[in-house]
Amino acid sequence: MTDEAQPQSTRSLHRLIYFSRQRLADDPPPNEQVEAIVRASIRNNREVAVTGLLLVHDGWFIQALEGPMTAVLTTYRRIIEDPRHEAPVVINAAPAASREFADWNMCARSLSAADEAIIDALEMRDAFEPTRLNERSALRLLKAVRDIQDRTSLSAATR
Ligand SMILES: Cc1cc2nc3c(=O)[nH]c(=O)nc-3n(C[C@H](O)[C@H](O)[C@H](O)COP(=O)(O)O)c2cc1C
Repeated sequence: MTDEAQPQSTRSLHRLIYFSRQRLADDPPPNEQVEAIVRASIRNNREVAVTGLLLVHDGWFIQALEGPMTAVLTTYRRIIEDPRHEAPVVINAAPAASREFADWNMCARSLSAADEAIIDALEMRDAFEPTRLNERSALRLLKAVRDIQDRTSLSAATR
C-alpha cells in the first residue's frame, strides 16, 4: 500500500529508531535466524508501507522503521515481543519529513572492519556501544550503512 492510499490521519510519516540486545540461539546459525527475520520483515512491512534498515552488529540490533505512524508503532510493538532479542530501547520516535530508507523494505547488514565510513560515523572505534547513540548519531550511523549498502548492493536474499 502506498502512503497516499491511506487516510490522512495515519498517513503522516514517522520514524522510530531503537536498539536491542541479540538473543539468538546457537542453532540454527545466527545468520540464518537474521535472514528469517529479514524475510518476515520484507513480507509484513511491504503490506503496511513500512521501510527501514536493520543493522546487526556485535551482539546488537539497531533498526529504523519508517512509515505511517500507526503502522510503525504496530510493527514495533510486535517486534519487541520477539524472543530473539531483549531489552529494546527507543532512541527516537517522531514525525519525519521524508524517508531515509525508502528503497528498502528491510535489509540487514553486519559491519566489517573494512566499513570505514560506518566506523567513522559511529565515532566508536574502540567499542560498539549503542547506548551512547542519540537521535542524530543513530540516524547518521544508519545512513552510513545505507550508503555502503547502496554501493555494495547486497545479494537479493537480504534485500
Ligand atoms: C531485531 C528484529 C527486527 C524485526 N523487524 C521486523 C520488522 O521490521 N517487521 C516485521 O514484520 N517483523 C520484524 N521482526 C519479526 C517480528 O518480531 C515477528 O517475528 C514477525 O513480524 C512475525 O511475522 P509473521 O507472523 O508474518 O511470521 C523483527 C524481529 C527482530 C528480532
